[in-house]
Amino acid sequence: MQKLVISGEKKICGEISVQGAKNAALPLLAGCVLARGETVLHNCPRLSDVYASTRILTHLGCRCCRKGDSVIISSDVISRSDIPEELMREMRSSIVFLGAVIGRTGKCCLSFPGGCELGPRPIDMHISALRQMGVSICEEYGVLRCEASKGLHGAKITLSFPSVGATENVIMAAALAKGETVIRNAAREPEITDLADFLNLCGARIYGAGTSTVRISGVEQLQGCEHRVMPDRIVATTYLGAAAITGGEVSLIGSKPEDIEAILSVFEEMGCNIYNYGDCIYMSCHKPLKSVKTIRTMPYPGFPTDAQSIMLSVLSKAKGTSIMVENIFESRYRQVGELVRMGCMIKTEGKVAIIEGVRKLYGARVVATDLRGGAALVLAGLGAQGETVISNIKLIDRGYEAIEKSLSEIGADIRRITEAT
Ligand code: UD1
Repeated sequence: MQKLVISGEKKICGEISVQGAKNAALPLLAGCVLARGETVLHNCPRLSDVYASTRILTHLGCRCCRKGDSVIISSDVISRSDIPEELMREMRSSIVFLGAVIGRTGKCCLSFPGGCELGPRPIDMHISALRQMGVSICEEYGVLRCEASKGLHGAKITLSFPSVGATENVIMAAALAKGETVIRNAAREPEITDLADFLNLCGARIYGAGTSTVRISGVEQLQGCEHRVMPDRIVATTYLGAAAITGGEVSLIGSKPEDIEAILSVFEEMGCNIYNYGDCIYMSCHKPLKSVKTIRTMPYPGFPTDAQSIMLSVLSKAKGTSIMVENIFESRYRQVGELVRMGCMIKTEGKVAIIEGVRKLYGARVVATDLRGGAALVLAGLGAQGETVISNIKLIDRGYEAIEKSLSEIGADIRRITEAT
């Protein structure tokens, strides 16, 4: 079993490039199903979830290969429209293939994604939207059988919550549907804009992505193209958090400051200095960190839920009491028990976490509970005295390209070991 071993209290200092975004790459890979011919996705991160997506694409009949940081997908032939259960289980977000597969083939059979480490992950909005577009869906023993026997047609869809996945699924299903689809209360995350930009380059007609009303005029056919995956907002936040918790400084190359304004303003409130130069963010944290009043996770452009765990670790070393309110997922404080073992003083009740800042954190043996919770343990380890050993790191590898290499480049003492148990 692989583990991360961190020797803490080493100041982060240096310049680092931000990898391509997992949450953009996964829907982009699904979107390749819609486009005939060859698509090249540059800056595609080397992650287990990306690999799981290419396995789904291969199963569907596409040819996929990697050349350096690019993934090349040929989807002239889509020979199947089912996604086997083992591939669905490997990655809960594989539900984003539903809209693409049904858009291209008129049908799709996949297993229900079920619950995950963040709590129940319902897909009622995805299902209801696709039904409005002419898809009949029946669920039997955890398997969803979806078919648009008369083809997909446009519809006016109002989401009851701006779900990222539901917005992506509807955009993909609508790209080749007959007529116009309008999504109201659409999610506005930058990853949605990246998907729409990609599909538009392939020939789609998607307007308003990044706003709460997205209009899609269905076209006959899409053709593969070359596209660069946007930088990962949460990986960028992780490096900033590493600099903050160690009292260091970092320059992020190839990042988009405008996509993480809600996060940058929290770091500023904590007393960090931030300068943006084009696609570079420089942050220094040479003064003791200050607590912040209340952070509420919200859909974009609010504070992202994926940055919540990371911020909990950083706030643990800030002077004073901070409050976090998690509004998006039910079970997103599972790493707190592990953080407490390291000396963090965090209490949770329902959606709320109260973080009392402490002077010192202490290295411990801890277990990653989910992807971002795992990253939070890495940050706590960087800021802790002594040695931290993190196990179950396959969860961290879902979203970070060799996290130990990136953090070592900027001064962390972190390595990956393989142990028998
Ligand atoms: C995406 C991101 C994930 C991020 C989340 C919120 C990917 C691969 N994952 O997940 O990292 O944390 O956005 O920013 O991009 N919901 C329903 N019914 C539905 C759909 C969603 O009740 O049909 C609920 C969810 O349970 C959750 C909330 O809506 O409470 C937000 O979920 P959603 O925006 O859909 O998140 P994902 O697309 O799954």
